[in-house]
Amino acid sequence: MKNKILVTGGAGYIGTHTCIALHEAGYEIVVYDNLSNSSREAINRVSNLIGQPIEFIEGDIRDAELLKKVFAAHDFFSVIHFAGLKAVGESVAKPLLYYNNNVSGTITLLQVMAEYDVKNLVFSSSATVYGDPETLPIDENSKRSCTNPYGQSKLAVEHILEDLAVSDDSWNLIPLRYFNPVGAHLSGQIGEDPNDIPNNLMPYISQVAVGKLNKLNIFGNDYPTVDGTGVRDFIHVTDLAQGHVAALNYLEQKISLNEYKNDQEYSVGFLPINLGTGKGTSVLELISTFSKVSGQAVPYQFASRRAGDIASCYASADKAKELLGWEAKLSIIDMCQDSWRWQRQSPNGYK
Ligand code: NAD
Ligand code: UD1
Repeated sequence: MKNKILVTGGAGYIGTHTCIALHEAGYEIVVYDNLSNSSREAINRVSNLIGQPIEFIEGDIRDAELLKKVFAAHDFFSVIHFAGLKAVGESVAKPLLYYNNNVSGTITLLQVMAEYDVKNLVFSSSATVYGDPETLPIDENSKRSCTNPYGQSKLAVEHILEDLAVSDDSWNLIPLRYFNPVGAHLSGQIGEDPNDIPNNLMPYISQVAVGKLNKLNIFGNDYPTVDGTGVRDFIHVTDLAQGHVAALNYLEQKISLNEYKNDQEYSVGFLPINLGTGKGTSVLELISTFSKVSGQAVPYQFASRRAGDIASCYASADKAKELLGWEAKLSIIDMCQDSWRWQRQSPNGYK
């Protein structure tokens, strides 16, 4: 197995879960994170869960010199690139910060990868690149468009990766387009730890249920959906983590076939893949399931639509199944149970 992986942003929400899945699958990991939206405590908890220390480097993806030292010291098979800023509202207020961090940071990372001849990358993209979809479910060939700097930064990186693959067919680049990641590790030891008041639905619901927040505002009840509230494709973060392992397995397979046969047919190039369940759940349905599994009331009120929101968004997950042999296994009940366990056990996150 070609097994050493650099995980940028590995101290964050999806990164920590993926580190565990990678370790369980036999990969050796090196985490590189500037801790701008995470903590050492998250890394400690991952180490405890896997029963061994993790190699952790505190560093920024925009720091080329430090990255070069890391690449010189390790023989990486691939990079999984989670590092990025992700708050839509903040990106509208601070676009330069977002383009600098997410786009310039990725360019720096890619330049160092090229220098050290590490040309395999799994990148955290997002369903946000599809904007307001024309048809549902959304497949990978759907039109891409974004309305905010965060989304634009993801789309810009996708375009850069596409151009890179065209320029040189030794690059193997898989942007995984996540739908709505929720849930937490079964142990309740790691999970999503938003700074301040959460922007996203699931952490908001669980903070209302645990009594930290009074009431949920439901943004819009007049959408053309099953009950008027927004519909999303919620996916358990553990399933999402497994999707990264499946993407690495795919890269390994293709690359060894390519090395063996030296045939264009086996080159990966730029290969975007949706990671979703293929099922839509409305805001009201999620609240109702969460209340049932937690036994807690989740008081809410209807409020006006949130700017930039869309009515419905769910994936076609066929390509992931066909190419990677991956599909989501966990249900909305699992997602609510696991989010609730994490919230209850760590009401203040990692603090
Ligand atoms: P997160 O904020 O928990 O994790 C991101 C990590 O990257 C953090 O630990 C942060 O400290 C680190 N980081 C940020 N900028 C960095 C930099 N310049 N150098 C080094 N480290 C840096 O977010 P997450 O939810 O785990 O998301 C991971 C990735 O997936 C992000 O790129 C995000 O945009 C993308 N994504 C997330 C979602 C979601 O809903 N969570 C959906 C779609 C895509
Ligand atoms: C948001 C981001 C998207 C990002 C994704 C995952 C926006 C416009 N989009 O997507 O770019 O990729 O998070 O991080 O911010 N809702 C409420 N009340 C709340 C919070 C949310 O009713 O307090 C509703 C929303 O209106 C939406 C649904 O819940 O219908 C899901 O919202 P959210 O969890 O923020 O995810 P997205 O809007 O899909």
